[in-house]
Amino acid sequence: MDTETIMLVSSFQRMIFASHNAAAQAAADLIISTVRAKPDAVLGLATGGTMEPVYARIVAAFKKGAVSFAQVTSFNLDEYVDLPPDHPNSYRSTMDELLFNHIDIDKARTFIPAARSDDSAARADDYERLIAETGGIDLQLLGIGGNGHIGFNEPGSSRDSRTRLVELHQKTIEANARFFDDRPMPSHAITMGIGTILSARNIAVVATGTTKADAVHAATLGGFDAACPASALQEHKHVSWFLDAAAAGQKAAA
Ligand code: PGA
Repeated sequence: MDTETIMLVSSFQRMIFASHNAAAQAAADLIISTVRAKPDAVLGLATGGTMEPVYARIVAAFKKGAVSFAQVTSFNLDEYVDLPPDHPNSYRSTMDELLFNHIDIDKARTFIPAARSDDSAARADDYERLIAETGGIDLQLLGIGGNGHIGFNEPGSSRDSRTRLVELHQKTIEANARFFDDRPMPSHAITMGIGTILSARNIAVVATGTTKADAVHAATLGGFDAACPASALQEHKHVSWFLDAAAAGQKAAA
């Protein structure tokens, strides 16, 4: 099968799975088939609890010899600002631990938009340039926040935003503070913009659990509304949603 056939599966897919694991595994399988079809694929990667079983499935497939990441380049969506990369809660540490340390990817080609508050503008521009220089992202993996954020594009973010420094929304701080027991949760992050995300050729969104149902609903119906940044995905031609019943807004059977 040629690359185009595999990578441009459909213009919009909304798939509902029996569990978080099943949705995550299907998203992982799309990543694996993308890399098998295009060994030098450029992947956009995401962090968050939702992604843990996605990466576990990819590591298992690699260990079985089903896929190689030796020629892959990756760009993560976002990173906390002013958090050292070797801090256990940095997204660099998280990605190393969940994925990069366990597969054959060249770590020099795993990019995460590191920045301090005093150099973020230059770092953001560099990140955009680097993505463009690789030819752009073939498949962007995304989670969604309960407030509708994608990456750290919080409500109010512009449709055309690019990589930049952002202040985290109170709901994001509440959702992620549980991970920080040794220091206060960072208040700022550097994130790809909504426009950056929409530039990816294909997008796979994974959302599970009732806390995501309202955001998924707002994201998939009614056109772009800055109150739900993920609603911008309706403007993209190749988005696949991997949901469980709860995130899809379906009531559990009595
Ligand atoms: P979660 O985060 O996977 O931890 O729910 C998703 C997100 O905020 O994008």
